Amino acid sequence: MESWGIFLLLLGSCFIAQVASNEKKDEEHQAHPRGPGRSHWNYQDTHEWDSSFPHCGGSEQSPINVNTSSVTFDASLRPIRLSGYNVTPEETLKLKNNGHTVVLDLPDNLLIIEGLAQTYRAAQLHFHWGSESSPGSEHTVNGHRFPGEIHVVHYSAEYDSIWEAVSRPGGLAVLAAFIEEGADENPTYERLLSHLRSVAEEGQTTNVTGFDIRGLLPRRLDRYYRYNGSLTTPPCFQSVNWTIFNQTIPLSPRQLAVLEDTIHTDHDHVLQMNFRLPQSLNGRHVLTSFGAPVGGRRAFGGGPVPAVVTDSPDGPGNEEKGAQGGEEYTLSTGDMLAIIFGVLFGVTAVAFFVYVRKNRTKNQRTKAENKSNVIYKVATTEENLA
Ligand SMILES: *[C@@H]1O[C@H](CO)[C@@H](O)[C@H](O)[C@H]1NC(C)=O
Ligand SMILES: *[C@@H]1O[C@H](CO)[C@@H](O)[C@H](O)[C@H]1NC(C)=O
Repeated sequence: MESWGIFLLLLGSCFIAQVASNEKKDEEHQAHPRGPGRSHWNYQDTHEWDSSFPHCGGSEQSPINVNTSSVTFDASLRPIRLSGYNVTPEETLKLKNNGHTVVLDLPDNLLIIEGLAQTYRAAQLHFHWGSESSPGSEHTVNGHRFPGEIHVVHYSAEYDSIWEAVSRPGGLAVLAAFIEEGADENPTYERLLSHLRSVAEEGQTTNVTGFDIRGLLPRRLDRYYRYNGSLTTPPCFQSVNWTIFNQTIPLSPRQLAVLEDTIHTDHDHVLQMNFRLPQSLNGRHVLTSFGAPVGGRRAFGGGPVPAVVTDSPDGPGNEEKGAQGGEEYTLSTGDMLAIIFGVLFGVTAVAFFVYVRKNRTKNQRTKAENKSNVIYKVATTEENLA
């Protein structure tokens, strides 16, 4: 009976310590943003982006969840055709850690020449990723999040620069593809990943020898989703004509770990989970260039078959939850913890008083040591609660 009481007491203390340390972590998160400085947005305060960047509160935001049962086949969506993507080794490309992602600048003779209403010029490509334990793509498919995502950003050739195009409807076209874990090393990705350590710190840049940028995209460029959306980072301009490829890109487990663990943001934090949660469609339609599968899931026509293209356990149709999804989850976890904690604390308190009373009635001399021990633990507990 006594050891049972001590056990509960210890368990209660552990919970208090756990809750207290979580609160401390939350405070650190709050303290991290260095004031409302415009360039200092981060991924801990995505719900506050629209207070400094009003477009982030718009009705055509990205990313989105693609619900494959409510997409519309559009036969006019031709295969994406690229031009100039094979950059020669004589050219060097600048790779930079901007504190939010790692960006590769692209020459403007890389073009999308088919598959969109206009010709688009490449400007840069960058990545979104998670951590070893959780995936980090921005778009999701039927609620499924992939380990990572590549965005190749282009601007309409009708404009002289990306800065002119960035806020105009249809001014930008982003080619997006999901990164998954595969068995083999991806040699094209290694051309970039081998340089990440040289840009580990925010603001660092390095030169990368030219290579075939096409190899960073999936083999099949004819199967994709299309919708009108926005930049997924502030200032969230609603200027992007999105193409999300259906075929995914496999990286080896080691390569995924390099992407997830190498890049640092300010204050020496490892930059992970640099993705925005899915935004509401608000009546927008998602088009596909490929037909609905006949008789269930269709096999991929050659090339690497994604290992984990599974339907998410929460099922399709959750795009309307949008950005609130994550918060709801956190809240209910908090409530659960509070309840568990409350019950445990109650039981612990009762057990403690029963224990103390029992001890008082026993031989004081032999129990003195144990008792002071227990009282000391309670003092520590109260400290943690305060
Ligand atoms: C995006 O591209 C599609 C063609 O694929 C076109 O119908 C649509 O108008 C474009 N959206 C904008 C805003 O340019
Ligand atoms: C690709 O398309 C198939 C068939 O619609 C679908 O089951 C699968 O989830 C899609 N995967 C991605 C990454 O879009």
